[in-house]
Amino acid sequence: MRYSALIDRAMGEGADAWIVHLEARAARDRGEDVLLLSIGDPDLDTPAEVVERAILGLRAGDTHYTPAAGRPELRAAIAALHCARTGQAVGASEVLATAGAQNALFVAALCIAGPGDELIALEPLYTTYPGTLGISGATLVRTPAPAARGFRPDLAALAAAITPRTRAIVYASPNNPCGVVLDERELAAIAALARRHDLWVVADEVYAALAPGARVPGLAAELPERVLTLGSLSKSHAMAGWRAGWLVGPDELVAKAEALSVCMLFGLPGFVQQAAIAALGLADAPAARVRSYLAERRALMLECLAQIPAIVVHAPAVGMFMLLDVRATGLSGREFTRALYDAERVAVVDGGAFGRETAGCVRACFATEPDEIRAGCARIARFCAGLARRGIRSAATGS
Ligand SMILES: Cc1ncc(COP(=O)(O)O)c(C=O)c1O
Repeated sequence: MRYSALIDRAMGEGADAWIVHLEARAARDRGEDVLLLSIGDPDLDTPAEVVERAILGLRAGDTHYTPAAGRPELRAAIAALHCARTGQAVGASEVLATAGAQNALFVAALCIAGPGDELIALEPLYTTYPGTLGISGATLVRTPAPAARGFRPDLAALAAAITPRTRAIVYASPNNPCGVVLDERELAAIAALARRHDLWVVADEVYAALAPGARVPGLAAELPERVLTLGSLSKSHAMAGWRAGWLVGPDELVAKAEALSVCMLFGLPGFVQQAAIAALGLADAPAARVRSYLAERRALMLECLAQIPAIVVHAPAVGMFMLLDVRATGLSGREFTRALYDAERVAVVDGGAFGRETAGCVRACFATEPDEIRAGCARIARFCAGLARRGIRSAATGS
């Protein structure tokens, strides 16, 4: 049978990043001894009040269709949160409730770009970006973040990448996988380019609440007419499976996005929306819990990895991932990921899935049980020691 060009784009770059993770997950489900340092979904429960609110909704029959853009109370609650985080005063009409930030990225791409256009995304970029942005038909243009500069964006390369076809600059800050938060100077450069070339700015701030003070520098308040902010409760409230997220942007764009949402989603479940309102009503407490959980585990993983001479660790400013530079082992991130899993049954993610500059790295998530972190790092150490022994032997025998 024939398939659309669109679905080929969705299955393109980035789509195979999860192969080792999926194998590991399936093995663990079969009861095998496997350690997962691969996925960014903290092993924390959603706050009990939020769960109770969803159950209440279900019991009360909140099981019908809902407005495609989200219930007005939810949109207003998101608007209030966005205002507190970014300083941009917005109302409910500037908010679209989406099935997670992932869905908001999809909506943004389809609203602002199409075939013949270009979307510039700052590397390293989250693995779903190529597929999601590519689905619009636009060409994805990646700009580097050199490892030697701590994965901060190359602003000259960004400026040089802009053409008359460019529609938007897309970035995640805090970044996944490297945890870099764009600073005022970098944002000012992006703002100047966006103004000069009349571009949209798509700011994925899904990790913003994990930053100290629950906010990161951004451009929403300065460029309200052209910034689309993506967010969700997945990371801040340990609610990844609820699929509660949003897009905030100019009301004209949100009205168009609502039409797309009618075709695509037809409204989030009412009990999820009520639970999301309850979650937002808890103010910063859930995110503060996640921040202190992550701070503890980040310190533990750093301590464990410090024992491994072959690995250079890039610890994140914000987030739940470490990038481990494994080039000294002689393996690429991709080779290391596969060989580590085959030898030690530890799943990490190939850094090459996020961009060229991270191809010599693997991504390890520390949002998991301390014992899993300790055991995972011990197995990584054993794996690296094995590689080193073999390297010494092959050097000695000339093979
Ligand atoms: C940078 C980035 N954006 C978006 C998402 C998707 O988040 P959500 O669960 O809100 O769809 C993720 C998930 O890990 C992410 O890392």
